[in-house]
Amino acid sequence: MATQDTQQERDGGAATAENFLSVTDNRTGKSYELEITDGTVRAMDFREIKVDDDDFGLMTYDPAFKNTASTRSRIAYIDGDAGVLEYRGYPIEELCEHSNYLEVAYLLIYGELPTEEQWGAWEHEITHHTYVHENIKKLMEGFRYDAHPMGMLLSTVGALSTFYPGANNITDDDEQRMAAVRLIAKMPTLAAFAYRHNLGLPYVYPDNDLGYAENFLSMLFKMAEWKYDADPRLARALDVLFILHADHEQNASTNAVRGVGSTQVDPYSAVAAGVSALYGPLHGGANEQVLRMLDRIGSTDNIPDFLEGVKNREERLMGFGHRVYKNYDPRARIIKRHVDEVLEVTGKSPKLEIAVELEKRALDDEFFTERKLYPNVDYYSGLIYEALGMPTEMFTVIFAIPRTSGWVAQWLELVQDDEQAIARPRQIYDGEREREYVGLEER
Ligand code: CMC
Repeated sequence: MATQDTQQERDGGAATAENFLSVTDNRTGKSYELEITDGTVRAMDFREIKVDDDDFGLMTYDPAFKNTASTRSRIAYIDGDAGVLEYRGYPIEELCEHSNYLEVAYLLIYGELPTEEQWGAWEHEITHHTYVHENIKKLMEGFRYDAHPMGMLLSTVGALSTFYPGANNITDDDEQRMAAVRLIAKMPTLAAFAYRHNLGLPYVYPDNDLGYAENFLSMLFKMAEWKYDADPRLARALDVLFILHADHEQNASTNAVRGVGSTQVDPYSAVAAGVSALYGPLHGGANEQVLRMLDRIGSTDNIPDFLEGVKNREERLMGFGHRVYKNYDPRARIIKRHVDEVLEVTGKSPKLEIAVELEKRALDDEFFTERKLYPNVDYYSGLIYEALGMPTEMFTVIFAIPRTSGWVAQWLELVQDDEQAIARPRQIYDGEREREYVGLEER
C-alpha cells in the first residue's frame, strides 16, 4: 500500500485523490490511502491495516472468488453486461464466421493470427502430433467397459506427463511449444479412443489427410470404409463449437490449471486438473445435464410444472445463468444458429422444440429476468452433439478438446508472469483450538 505522498512521488506528482480509496479503521482511528489501479485495490495493501504491531493485518474474504481478480491477462475479454466475448481482441462472432479452430488456437497461444507461412507450419505440426504412444492405448484398454469418458480423459492427459518428462522444464521455450502442440494435437485422439472404448469398438488412428474437426469425426465414427467422409456442414458446425469453447478467461477449470500450474508442475498435469474441474455439472458437465433435463421434461406441456419446480428451488434450469454474463451469452446465440443447420442434415430433434419453448417461457418470467439468467453456451450445444450422434457422456469431453488451447495459453501466460507465485489462499479458522487429547476408552 502506498501512502498518498509516496505514490505521488512515484508518479512524479501525477497521482490525484481520485486514484485512491480512503479507508478509516474505526478500531484505531487511523486513515489509509489505497491506490486504485484498473478498478482494483491490492488485497495485500489491506495487510498494512492493523490494530497494533502484533496484528497480522486485514485480509479480504471472498469465497468462490466472486470479486477477486487473480491475474492480469491478455487472452480473452468478456463484457458480461453487454454479452461481449473477444479472443486477443477479435470478436467471437468474427472468428466464428471467418476463422477455424486451429487458427484460433494459434491466436490464443501466440497472441496474433498466423501469417501464411506460420499457419502452414502450425497445421503441419499439429497434424503430425496426433498419434499417442501405444502404451496410452493400453492404459485406456484397462478401464471398465462403461467408464465415463471424462474420467478416462483426465487420467490419460495426466499420464502424458510420464511420456514427456522434459515438459518438467517449464521455462524452456521448446518444451513449452511442444507441450502446446502435443496437448492440442492429442486431445481429440484421447477423446475418440475413450468413446470407442465405451462402445467396445477398435480405436481408430488419426488420418493426416483430414482437418482437425474431420479427423476427430473420423476417429469417432469410421467403421470398415477406407476413408471416413464427414459431411462438411457437420464438420464446420463442430469446428465453430470448438472456436466458441476455446477460452473463457478465469473460469473454474482455467483457475484450476493456473492454481495447479502455479506449483511449477508440468503442463500435462496442470491441464489434467483443468479436465477434472470441467467434469463438474456446474461447469462443463452442464451440457450433459441440459439434455438429461430436456429428456425429463419430455414434452412442452410439462414446461410450466418444471419451471415451478425451478422457482421452488427443487430444480435448476441447466444451461441458464452465468457468473459473468448477465445478458445473453454470445456463444449461445451463435450455437443456436448452427442447431438448425445441423438438424437439416441429421433430421429433427423433438428436444429442440422443448428447449426453444423452455427458453422463451423462462425469459418471460420475472424469476429469471430479475436475476439476469439467460441461456449460456451449454444450453444448445448438447443438441448439436446429440444430433452428431454423440452419447451424453461425451459432451464434456468434446468441450475439453478446444478448451485445451485456452488452458495452455493461460498456463503459458502464468509461467511468464513475474507477479505470480504459488496460489495459496488464506482462511478464516472457525474451528476448536488447543483441545486436550482424550483416550478412546474415555470418549
Ligand atoms: N436455475 C435456477 N436458478 C438459478 C440458476 C439456474 N440455472 N442459476 C442461478 N440461479 C439463481 C440462484 O439460485 C440465485 O438466486 P438467489 O439470489 O435467489 O439465491 C441467483 O440466480 C444467482 O445465482 P448464483 O448461483 O449466485 O450464481 P453463480 O454465479 O454462483 O452461479 C452458475 C453461476 C453458472 C453456476 C449458475 O447460474 C448455475 O448453476 N447454472 C446452471 C449450470 C450451468 O448451466 N452451468 C454452465 C455454466 S456456462 C459454461 C461454463 O462456463 O462452464
